[in-house]
Order: sequence, then structure tokens, then C-alpha cells
Amino acid sequence: MQWQSKLDDQQGDAPNTEGILKTEVSRRTFLSYIAASISAFIGIAAGVPIIGYVAAPLAKKEEARWISLGKVEAFNDQEPKLATFTITKRDGWVEVQEARTCWIIPQKNGGFVAFNGRCTHLGCAYSWRTSGEHAGKFFCPCHDGLYDREGTVLDGPPPRPLDRLDVKVEGDELMVLLQDFRLGVPEKEAL
Ligand code: FES
Repeated sequence: MQWQSKLDDQQGDAPNTEGILKTEVSRRTFLSYIAASISAFIGIAAGVPIIGYVAAPLAKKEEARWISLGKVEAFNDQEPKLATFTITKRDGWVEVQEARTCWIIPQKNGGFVAFNGRCTHLGCAYSWRTSGEHAGKFFCPCHDGLYDREGTVLDGPPPRPLDRLDVKVEGDELMVLLQDFRLGVPEKEAL
């Protein structure tokens, strides 16, 4: 019939609303993915420096530092002498004061040798013995570590000689370059 045919024609020409809707939805989805990706990128870009800023103090390597030990004549005695001092260290976000030591050994040529005050085994404090069984040697009481005057291991578990530090005389002051090394390993490895 003519009336039916007109209706069919109209239906044939009518836009496919389901298709349009699908296209619209998929375009919106696509755009939302793009927006989310850009947001994520900006977030990461902004976050990386912040994470680095927060984590940097925790990961920072210990730096060697020159320490004044006082007047050089105080170390001219022929016997090894213990030097004590305090350093400021950053522990995460907190600054802490730490008591440290090193041993100064006068040399025949007028120079000095310095040893880090930590035993190379597990870091205990050792001392120069002037009498008794270990006279003329460095002795670590923690596990009976024994070193000679040059820092060479004579006995016990220390895996390497005492850790030498650089020294210099500036004016009338004796200076030592304080640095720590990994403990319990045969190689001298700066921390
Ligand atoms: S810490 Fe010195 S011998 Fe163990």
C-alpha cells in the first residue's frame, strides 16, 4: 500500500540512532582514556622529583670529611694516640651527633699515619696496648682481633688491615679525612 510504503521509506531514511550512540560512547571512552593518560603522566612527572627529594637524604652516600684533631704537637709522642671528636650525621631526616675516634701513629720521618677507630671486623673500638699480653699492638676485645702498629692483622677474625685515613697538617693543626668503609669484608670499600 502507498501509506505503508511511505512509512517504510521514512524508516529507511531514518538515522541509525543505535550506531550513533555506539560511536558517541566509544569516542567518549577514547577521550576519557586520553585524559586519564595525560593526568597519570602529569602525576608521575610531578611525583618523581618529590619522591627523589624525600628519598634522597635516605639514599645519600656518606661523604668523606676533613676533621681537625687539634694541635699537631699533641701527636708528636712516639706512641700511637687516640683522637676523639664528634661529627654531625644525617640519619634520614634527623641530624644526630656521633662520637668518633681515630688512631694517629707518628712516623720516624715526622709524618703521621691515621687509622679509622673502628675494627674492620664488626666495627668495635680497639686500643693500643702498652702493657700485658698484647703490648705494642692494637687489640680489639670484641672477638680478640689483633693488629700490629702498621695495622696488619696478626690474629682474630678481622678480614683486612685497619682502615687508613688521609692526614695532613694545616698550619699547626693535624687534619684527618674521616671516611667509613664496609665492615667484615676483605676489600676496603668506601661507604
Ligand atoms: S669487632 Fe673487632 S674483632 Fe670483632
